[in-house]
Formats: sequence, C-alpha cells, structure tokens
Amino acid sequence: MGKRAPSGPLAAFRARFLDVLASIYLYNEHRGYTALDRVLEAVRARCPDDAAFIAAIAKHRADERKHYVMFKRWFETQGKMPLAVDSTCGHIDRFIFKVFGCSIDELDTQGVIASADEFEQLCRVIMLTEQRGMRQVEILLKNPHILSDKVMTRIFRIVEKDEPDHWMPYESWLKANGRVTARWRERWADFWIHKSLMLVKLPALFLNRATPRMASWPDAED
Ligand SMILES: [Fe+2]
Ligand SMILES: [Fe+2]
Repeated sequence: MGKRAPSGPLAAFRARFLDVLASIYLYNEHRGYTALDRVLEAVRARCPDDAAFIAAIAKHRADERKHYVMFKRWFETQGKMPLAVDSTCGHIDRFIFKVFGCSIDELDTQGVIASADEFEQLCRVIMLTEQRGMRQVEILLKNPHILSDKVMTRIFRIVEKDEPDHWMPYESWLKANGRVTARWRERWADFWIHKSLMLVKLPALFLNRATPRMASWPDAED
C-alpha cells in the first residue's frame, strides 16, 4: 500500500508508533481549532477593543486548522483513516474538565465571558497546554522514528515554528492585565495529564490492535 514495503518487527513497531502518534495529534489539532472558535467568541465579547489579541487568537485558530489538515493528508496518502481516539486522549479536553468540571462542549461560554476569573483561567489553560505542546514537539523532533519519516518530520517542523505564537498572546494578556500567569494547581494538572497521556494512553493505544479506525473525518461535522 504505502511508499515503502516495511517488514520485520522494527518496521512494524515504527509504523504503529507513527500511526498512534499521528492519530492522537490529529484529534488534538481538531479539538484545538474547534475549541478556539468558542474562545474567539468569548474574547470578542470580553475585549472587543483589543484587536491585537483577537487577531492573535484568530491566527492561532488558523494554525491549528492547518496542523489538522497536515496530519489528515499524512493519513490520506497512506490510504487509511486515523485510529478512533476520543476525548480521553485530548490534553485540552482533560484540562478543561479538571479546571471547569465539564467537557469543552458543555463549557458555558456566556459564563466565562461574564466572569473575569473564569476568563483568566481559560487563558491560562490554553497557555499551559500550548507550552506543553511546544516542549513535546522539541522532544519528538529528536525521535528516530519521526525523523525516519520525511513528511512527518516536515509536519513537526512546521508545528514547532508555529507553536510560540500559540501561548505568548495569552501570557502577554495575563501580564498586561495584572493577572497571575499560572497557578501551582494548574501546572500540576497539566503535568499529570501529560504523563498519563504519554505513559498510559499512548502505550495502551499502541498495544490494543482492536482499536477501530475513524469512520469519518472529524472535520466532516464542522
Ligand atoms: Fe497544533
Ligand atoms: Fe498549538
């Protein structure tokens, strides 16, 4: 099917690793840009005069959509669909749940707009998620399996270049408005979510051969 005809246990390991990793990324990129639509709505209502902040978030949204499309193409060229991962593999899903006690879909945008505290908290969740993402990409760009796939390497280099723009605007806003940039409890939540994704979810998905593939692309419902 693919460009190469890999064989042997190492090739099988590599193929499965890339398959699992790309599936998790594709899910998270889609979750990212769809959730940012909600954030844009909140920011336009809360800070209608802050054109620079609004533009930065719109750019962030466009980048995450671009990342999603790159992973989607990676799967398309191989003629397969991503593994059907759910919100348990979503860093932002789990972070929102920990901080706000609900799913992204249930997040009360109007409530977040009305409350300075909640809005500030949402900015911090995005900032921490993106800082984590940036560090993760740096690690992945040293991974020999990733580097052995030219297209995947190119994708992660683009993601690496875009990533600083994804947390700096939120940090600047928090600082400019005299808000705390991160609470110990939030950093701790971020740390544990990341650990459980990397050390529990990813290996479980890797090993579970029965995991089905997505029946349709997540953006089919956008
Ligand atoms: Fe991204
Ligand atoms: Fe990002």
